[in-house]
Amino acid sequence: MARLTACFVLSGILLLATGICSGNGQIVEEPFPTNPVTGCLQFRPDGHLPLTWPVPWVFEFLAKLPPLRIISKGDPSLSIAADDNGNVFLAKTNCSDLRQLWVQHFPYPGENRFALVNLAKEYEMRAPMILEDGPYPMKLGKYAPLDVPAYALWTQDTPLLCAGFYKIRSCYKDERLVLDGLHGNVHEGTVVGAYPADHSADNVLWKMEGFLSNHP
Ligand SMILES: *[C@@H]1O[C@H](CO)[C@@H](O)[C@H](O)[C@H]1NC(C)=O
Repeated sequence: MARLTACFVLSGILLLATGICSGNGQIVEEPFPTNPVTGCLQFRPDGHLPLTWPVPWVFEFLAKLPPLRIISKGDPSLSIAADDNGNVFLAKTNCSDLRQLWVQHFPYPGENRFALVNLAKEYEMRAPMILEDGPYPMKLGKYAPLDVPAYALWTQDTPLLCAGFYKIRSCYKDERLVLDGLHGNVHEGTVVGAYPADHSADNVLWKMEGFLSNHP
């Protein structure tokens, strides 16, 4: 009996500590709220992300940055998305897809270098990083906002076109590296990497806009 009581007390404490528990003790992710009319993600009235999962408090400020999407000049109906495995690719713009949501974080005051942080994965903030030499595919890596390496930092080129698209340039070893639909591609599923492109073709031109731009 005593053991049973202790067990109940312990599960009570655990429940309090973690919020919602499922039968096997895993935390159940509450769905991110969507607008019942538009089906789009529903932000708080101040425009912030209502994170429905625990984030270490020191990182909460990231959820208060304006939610953005990154669209392609080659096909403005495509946005840069990230999957659970950390791959970065183009996807049809979808106003309810958290994987297309980015925040632009300038970690070093007074500098124009920024990281692109994706908050879609539970308990973890991730940013695209150039992790190897060669054709420079990117992977999302764990983001530590207080110590951001150059291979996760970018700058925005001066707008080139009336439509306001621009290159997003790496701050890694080779500053010719720009965010690029690899192999000249701009299609659903195109892998996005960094490439030393010396041209201004559509696959290297991007625009960051509000996540719900063109949506109610
Ligand atoms: C949009 O994204 C949501 C959430 O990931 C998904 O359930 C839905 O199927 C997507 N819609 C389309 C048209 O792909």
